[in-house]
Amino acid sequence: MRGQPIGAPLGVVPEPDLGHHGDVEVGEGLVDLAVNVRRAPMPPWLAGPLAASLGDLARYPDPAPARAAVAARHRRPPAEVLLTAGAAEGFVLIAQALRGVRRPVVVHPQFTEPEAALAAAGHEVERVLLDAADGFRLDPARVPADADLVMVGNPTNPTSVLHPAATIAVLARPGRVLVVDEAFADTTAAPGVPGEPESLAGRRDLPGLLVLRSLTKTWGLAGLRIGYLLGEAALVDRLARVQPLWAVSTPALAAATACAAPEAVAAERAIAAGLAADRDHLLARLATLPGVRVAGRPASAFVLLEIPGADRIRLALRERGWAVRRGDTFPGLGPDWLRVAVRDRRTTDAFVEALADILEA
Ligand SMILES: Cc1ncc(COP(=O)(O)O)c(C=O)c1O
Repeated sequence: MRGQPIGAPLGVVPEPDLGHHGDVEVGEGLVDLAVNVRRAPMPPWLAGPLAASLGDLARYPDPAPARAAVAARHRRPPAEVLLTAGAAEGFVLIAQALRGVRRPVVVHPQFTEPEAALAAAGHEVERVLLDAADGFRLDPARVPADADLVMVGNPTNPTSVLHPAATIAVLARPGRVLVVDEAFADTTAAPGVPGEPESLAGRRDLPGLLVLRSLTKTWGLAGLRIGYLLGEAALVDRLARVQPLWAVSTPALAAATACAAPEAVAAERAIAAGLAADRDHLLARLATLPGVRVAGRPASAFVLLEIPGADRIRLALRERGWAVRRGDTFPGLGPDWLRVAVRDRRTTDAFVEALADILEA
């Protein structure tokens, strides 16, 4: 099925606002369940290098050490790494560098910036909408065979669904660039699996694969802007050519180096395991609420809820001091959807009580 091209006649379904993000839902005095950035004291192995980098700001940034560190972390040569000002910059570089693609496809519901960046660069985007009824399962057969650029999130924001790596790998082929947004891959964990389950970050055998990573979520660095791209050297080089000079600042590079160290990766794994337990708690509490349905099987730092009248419930939550992310700005969702960040148990308990009160009223 051909998706909904940008700018096509919209019929009765309003076009979602792709430029809306959870940060604008947060306000003074509200508990933030809208933004999926972890809030925790910065570990000394990160705070130290960051602070030290401020003494070096008179020099232009040198990405080489950070590039080498990130490459070592993912067991790839440095030429297969491009540091970016957050994963968000990666979408823009892809959209700008790959202007020649003829049939770009974005798998939704997902983060809206990939499509927004493509549209801003003049691409006519097609959407493949995954089904809520099917747990937002990815069926590779839904992606048109001649799509020469495919963008998918894993785990996906806002559904929190983690697609099997093997299913995504099926989408890679010569003549196609396959972009996998792994901004939240470090939040996933599976019992008995030492690393990130279903990540393709270390795969060097898949043609046209580009993996985007973010360091802003788990490490609370949204304001610093640091992420990176991994892929074939020739493809990475094409993206690097359209990147503004010195796009990634010296402090951001220091953070990238620190976050690539084995100590940081081990800490990430421990955080992901704790998050899984907190998420199970949230899911168990939500399961007690009639009319609240969790879509698919959440695997990341947030869960997506379907509640009849969620748009009104969101406003009632705001009145009680809770900011949650509206779901209707994601293609494929609508007014009955909300996204909620996984937080500590005490916050979760208080949130679920507020939600229960609203639902009972
Ligand atoms: C799925 C997803 N990808 C990428 C990004 C961009 O992250 P960054 O802060 O690294 O630019 C976000 C931010 O919300 C996101 O949710």
